[in-house]
This record gives sequence, structure tokens and C-alpha cells, in this order.
Amino acid sequence: MPHATTSPITVHKIEPQPGSSFDFGAEIRGANLENITESDAEVIIRALYENQVVLFKNQQKLSPKAQYELTRLFDPTATGYGHGKTLDAKRSILHPDLKTVPHQPQVQVIGNGPVDEFEGLKNITLKHPHHRTFHQEAISDADDRDNTRFYRWHIDAALYDLEPPKVTSLLAVKVPKTEYQTLRYDDGTGDEVRLSRGSTAFVSSYKMFDLLSEQDKEFARTTKVQYAPHPYIWMSPCKSRSDGLGLISSGLELPAEQLPPVDESKIKVLPMCWKNPVTGQLALQVHPSAVQALHLADGTIIDNLAEVREIVHRLQRPGIAPELVYAVDWEEGDMALFNNRGVLHTVTGSFLPEEVRIFRQCNMAASEGVIGPDE
Ligand SMILES: [Fe+2]
Repeated sequence: MPHATTSPITVHKIEPQPGSSFDFGAEIRGANLENITESDAEVIIRALYENQVVLFKNQQKLSPKAQYELTRLFDPTATGYGHGKTLDAKRSILHPDLKTVPHQPQVQVIGNGPVDEFEGLKNITLKHPHHRTFHQEAISDADDRDNTRFYRWHIDAALYDLEPPKVTSLLAVKVPKTEYQTLRYDDGTGDEVRLSRGSTAFVSSYKMFDLLSEQDKEFARTTKVQYAPHPYIWMSPCKSRSDGLGLISSGLELPAEQLPPVDESKIKVLPMCWKNPVTGQLALQVHPSAVQALHLADGTIIDNLAEVREIVHRLQRPGIAPELVYAVDWEEGDMALFNNRGVLHTVTGSFLPEEVRIFRQCNMAASEGVIGPDE
């Protein structure tokens, strides 16, 4: 519903397809993102925190600078990219997926295929992450073109030293023609989602919390999550579950001596639930692949990785049920902005090496920590 304001912007809920019941996502119409007024900003910020994912159509001409400014609306004193310079580490699992826009270093280019020139980057080859590089067992080659997986459910966050970005923006600059794929969970449940190739999938972490039993809600409200230092290097040899929701435990994590130096004071121990700054709702917000230990209310620390991952998976899995997944079917010019502290998201799909797809992504390490359940 449009808000009573001087802004011409209107907010329209995304209608889920039949069979789907996710309760978040909205399209914002009437915004001039190159010139955001104060009252526009108010409407956009409220819409984001009420809807978690907001979509602006026809933004293909938006400059990287304007994308940066839109993203920074949510955290005006934040300045640097969400992963800082940690992606320079060649061993990080995030390294191959991102290229930095030289004149706007908070903005990254992601996608697939050969690109002659884009925003000052010349002769680059982008590579859409394929689940076979990360999952323990992959879909067979014969089935691969028509079927896919959730690549890796995550929060955009360094989870070491830097604070998790408040929002991420994603602009679809070039997308191949839409084709449909079947996304399989391959976890014995038979769960599947029909989505367009290369959809970005989102789930609400508020719904994930609401689905918990009262006992699990109490556990989630009172437990803290310790993340591994240099998590994306630490986990680099590990393989994922077939639902993309966390890692398989087979002792492959890199030991401390194989990581860059660790400063204990930079290790992140974050609440398991993060509060929405506008609605006050609690999100069950855990990066399932980066978690290393759980700190319970009674002082117990669970640091057996297999046990930690089982607990987190048991709590999170109901929240990624097929009907709760909002898969954005990208059209060129779509700009999505999402509440990185209230949703999980993942890449899906696969592309042939010559299929060109270009996205611009922006987020910034936050100027302040997450809001815990008791704050
Ligand atoms: Fe991401």
C-alpha cells in the first residue's frame, strides 16, 4: 500500500505463484534512483525492512555510483566493500566469483561468459558458480542442463573482523533468455522448485524463526554463534549438503596453521537471532557454512563441528521448504535490494561457458553490529 508521504513511490507486494506461500518481497514503482529525495529514502528504507527483498524495474541505465548511493542509504557512514580486501586471498572460495569495478570499488561484477568491456573492466571472463564445484554429490551430466540445486545458502558477510552488511543490491545488466529448470533438494524428501535458469533464491529468516517450536525459539534467542576465522579460506576444501544449507563434516576444514594469521579479537560471536530494526521481528540468521561453534545460555560451548552443523541444519531446514522460496526470475534492468540481516539467499542454475550474463552487486561492511534479540 502506498504510504502517506510526499514521495511518488509506491510499494506492491510480490504475489507468489499458486502452490507457493512466501510472505515477503515487493516491487517499488516510481522511484528515480539517480536522484533519491529524503522522503523517497524514507519510503524505500521502510519498504525494505517490511518486505526484505524489494525490486526496482528498468534500472539498466543506473550508474555504479547511484547503485552505491542507494545501497549506502541504509548505512550512510559505511564506505568499504562487505568483504573488505579479504577476497584478494586466492584461496578464498569467493575469489573466483567477483570482479571489482575500478571506479566504484564497493561494486562487484558477477555473472557468466566472456565480456569484452564493462565498466572499465576489459576482456574478463565471468563464471557462474556451478554446484558441482561445491556439493559433495552433483547432479549427473545427463540431467544437468534441466536440473539444478541451491548452490550455497548464505548471508553476504565476511564474518571475521567486519560487521555484516545491512543490505545488498543486485542489478541484472544482461541475462540470457529465460528457460525453466527443476531445482532439486536431493535430500530424500523429493522436494523440488520450478524456477528460471539463474534465479536468485531467497528465504525469509523471520519465517525460519517463526516455524521453530517454542523450545527451539528459546534456544535460538539465547544461543550465540561463533564463526570460523577467515571462514571462506577455512572451509575451502569442504563440500556442501545437497540442499546447499551447510557443509558435510569430514574433517577437511583448514587447521589454524594453514590460515592467515588469526587475531582472536576479530573472531565473530554473533547472536543466533537478529532483530529487524523497523518491525522488531526476530530472524534466525546463521551462515550455515561458516559456523564453527555454538555458545549456549548456560555457558556450554558446542564445538564438535558435526554436532554444530546438525543443530543449525535442523533449525534452518524447515525455512527453505519449496513453498517458502522466492526465486527472482531476472529481467534485464531489475535491481533487487535485500535485507541481508533478514534473509538467506543463494545462486541457482548453470550456464554454458558462452552464455553471457552480467550483474552488478554492492554491499558494504556495516558501521555497526547486528541487533540481538534483547536489544
Ligand atoms: Fe550473496
